[in-house]
Amino acid sequence: MKTKTFYDKYPFFYDDPEKERLVMEELPLGKFVKKYIKEDSKVVDVGCGCGIKAKYILKRINLKDYTGIDISKKSLDIAKILNPGIKTINASNTDLPIPSNYADIVISDGVIHHTESPYTSFKEIVRIIKEGGKVYLSTYNREHLFYWAYRLSAFLRLLRKVHLDFINKLIFFPFYFLFWNQLGIMLLYKKFKLISIKESWAMFNDNVMAPIAYYYYSDDILLWCDINNINVLEKETYIYGQMLSYVLEKKAGKAHVH
Ligand SMILES: C[S@@+](CC[C@H](N)C(=O)[O-])C[C@H]1O[C@@H](n2cnc3c(N)ncnc32)[C@H](O)[C@@H]1O
Repeated sequence: MKTKTFYDKYPFFYDDPEKERLVMEELPLGKFVKKYIKEDSKVVDVGCGCGIKAKYILKRINLKDYTGIDISKKSLDIAKILNPGIKTINASNTDLPIPSNYADIVISDGVIHHTESPYTSFKEIVRIIKEGGKVYLSTYNREHLFYWAYRLSAFLRLLRKVHLDFINKLIFFPFYFLFWNQLGIMLLYKKFKLISIKESWAMFNDNVMAPIAYYYYSDDILLWCDINNINVLEKETYIYGQMLSYVLEKKAGKAHVH
């Protein structure tokens, strides 16, 4: 199943107030929002999914110009219901229908690693951001053990392909639900917190069952930045190191020839 149809079938949707607090108060995205987004910023959310991050941001900052782009139409329908004021565009991040040097802020949170060509997507982000504009980019971390979990779970994706998904639902998903979502998230929240089965299912599909998931070393992204005339302002890992996050800035002048 291609990424587009995959996220139409399994949109990455969750609605949990505790998660909102975690994302906006403790994780790198929340810090980025507080530090860099202003009321008059033109924001483009590349791979906005169901618009959950848009909802968190718009609750805090009264933005006039927020564009959410995603390859999954179903996810965008949900994003529009959650955020009636945003523009949504159904397109691929490898060919963004946005003019060059348009955005003050680009957010691409957990997206490029699910894309057939992450580097093309990165270059599109670089193209649409203004000189001096800021990018929040997050991607899977190759140094985290989850990389091996994803590789080993190819078997689970095969089970789904041959219509044996009930085995995943009966055996592997409960395991993920109990150990990664309940125990893991409880430690992350630093308090007892039950994640609903529906939310855990969305995360299981994204983390384990997604048809494409690339994992990057930090140096890979730093090299992309170097080639494309991008400053790295901040760099952090989060969710036990599963994710890498970057705050980037487009420098003035042309990128290196490559
Ligand atoms: C893990 S979800 C993240 C959604 C959102 N950024 C968030 O943090 O809630 C990944 C999203 O990337 C989108 N996606 C994957 N490949 C894409 C592509 N080539 N172009 C645009 N969106 C893509 C999927 O449809 C999905 O909504």
